[in-house]
Amino acid sequence: MREVFVNGQYLVEAEARISVFDRGFLFADGVYEVTSVLDGRLVDFDGHFERLLRSMEALEMEPSMTRDELLAVHRQLVRRNGINEGLVYLQVTRGVADRDFLFPPGTTPLTIVAFTQKKSLVESEHARRGLKVISLEDMRWGMCDVKTTQLLYASMAKMKAREQGADDAWLMRDGLISEGTSNNAYIVTDEGVIVTRDLSPQILSGITRRAVLQCAEKLQMKVEERAFSVQEAAGAKEAFVTSATTFVTPVTEVDGRKIGDGKPGPVARKLREIYLEESIRNAI
Ligand code: PDD
Repeated sequence: MREVFVNGQYLVEAEARISVFDRGFLFADGVYEVTSVLDGRLVDFDGHFERLLRSMEALEMEPSMTRDELLAVHRQLVRRNGINEGLVYLQVTRGVADRDFLFPPGTTPLTIVAFTQKKSLVESEHARRGLKVISLEDMRWGMCDVKTTQLLYASMAKMKAREQGADDAWLMRDGLISEGTSNNAYIVTDEGVIVTRDLSPQILSGITRRAVLQCAEKLQMKVEERAFSVQEAAGAKEAFVTSATTFVTPVTEVDGRKIGDGKPGPVARKLREIYLEESIRNAI
């Protein structure tokens, strides 16, 4: 059975307990991070840690563990659960307090939970065949740059995609794609320019996005950070998504329309390869 981390203790998952009054449960009052593990080491831990601090600051949550302490927890979980390839989830909530919309005093201890998932990430069917996506209205809240645990709409959107025979949904505001349900979205134009939405409260500032755009720059590929429509995506040469769980994964269809020749494209393939090389080299 898996060992998980709960408020300073390592426990087998069946013995881990959280209060009924945890604000994560009552109000989705929490933030999280997902870090991938390759060759038993953590990919871009510091990027994820820095974003965790930004999310917490946005919600007025005072950090109670240092970078080194959290790194030690991640490493312990990887070791205890024998993770060579997979994910570490870190969930932080505002803690336990009698139900009240007002935040409890700053002295209330946070709930800090971490757990692992063993998963084959490098070898993936999706990376091989590409994803089919549908477009859906982006009905999430207005602070999508904060990585909160209130993922219900994203979850519903992904279910809807599945019901329609697709793999994922691209969310849209005012006719323009913001991002995927749990990834950042990109297209490649006929001129070979990589286009992805510019950073704003409408999207999550992906840690993988940052690393992949750096890879693109190194390869002297052109990048434009701006919004694009479903129409433009359907007429693009290729498309892809990025996240800690999918790295770079091609998208071959949007709303039933083939993108390019309907097969994974060379830009996505190259970026995935380079991103993986760099990530394995720099993992800690
Ligand atoms: N999701 N956009 C959204 C809405 C996300 O939920 C995620 C990550 C990303 C990509 O961010 P990053 O590159 O830092 O993983 C973009 C994680 C993987 C999840 O919820 O499982």
